[in-house]
Amino acid sequence: MCQSFSNIVDWSQRVLGEVLTAGDFAIDLTAGNGYDTLMLAQAVGPSGRVLALDLQGLALERSAERLQAQGIVTQRLQVTGSPLLAGVSLVQADHAELAAWNLSAPSAIIANLGYLPGGDKRLVTKPETTLAALQAACDLLTPGGRIAVVVYPGHPGGRCEATAVDQFFSGLDESQFEVLRLQVMNRPQSPFLLTAGKLADFTYVMEP
Ligand SMILES: C[S@@+](CC[C@H](N)C(=O)[O-])C[C@H]1O[C@@H](n2cnc3c(N)ncnc32)[C@H](O)[C@@H]1O
Repeated sequence: MCQSFSNIVDWSQRVLGEVLTAGDFAIDLTAGNGYDTLMLAQAVGPSGRVLALDLQGLALERSAERLQAQGIVTQRLQVTGSPLLAGVSLVQADHAELAAWNLSAPSAIIANLGYLPGGDKRLVTKPETTLAALQAACDLLTPGGRIAVVVYPGHPGGRCEATAVDQFFSGLDESQFEVLRLQVMNRPQSPFLLTAGKLADFTYVMEP
């Protein structure tokens, strides 16, 4: 339940929770401290699968701790492309590489951009890699699935990334996606949510 309009992370989790059921597959593009991964893991249950990526080993360690404290099975994969078992697979990798992996279609994808809270603030998501990941994510998403991205315009470089992500979502084909943008309007530097639902009657055809 959202306590305040300005808790954008709550909104992002709520939007994805609506489309996730037990046994589903979900992806967290930025594992960070593991809060979003935990939400996905609880929504898909023990029979479901979650792939959580982060560039930083520290983020994956923190995520594993958080999940294990809740009794959730985690595994650290060294390479992507390995078959994903039930539970949470934590992978140290750049989310820009997502398109190269042979993944099945997820029901939900989350990305909470910016830097690792309590970590090195210089290690932030960047427009180029973020856009590559978002394009792959939108291609991969199952019809009826949703992607949610929390964007932070307030930190150095954040405005540039926010503009790029805004343009990406506003350019999505309206016959394939419905896009919603949520921000506290009278605080222009506040984080905002971009979420897209892939229309259920749309089928993505992979290039040969
Ligand atoms: C705001 S934090 C994520 C918060 C997290 N979702 C949570 O629930 O705690 C952003 C994370 O993105 C990661 N990151 C930055 N660039 C990345 C990239 N190219 N690929 C994967 N992860 C990246 C950072 O290391 C950082 O941990």
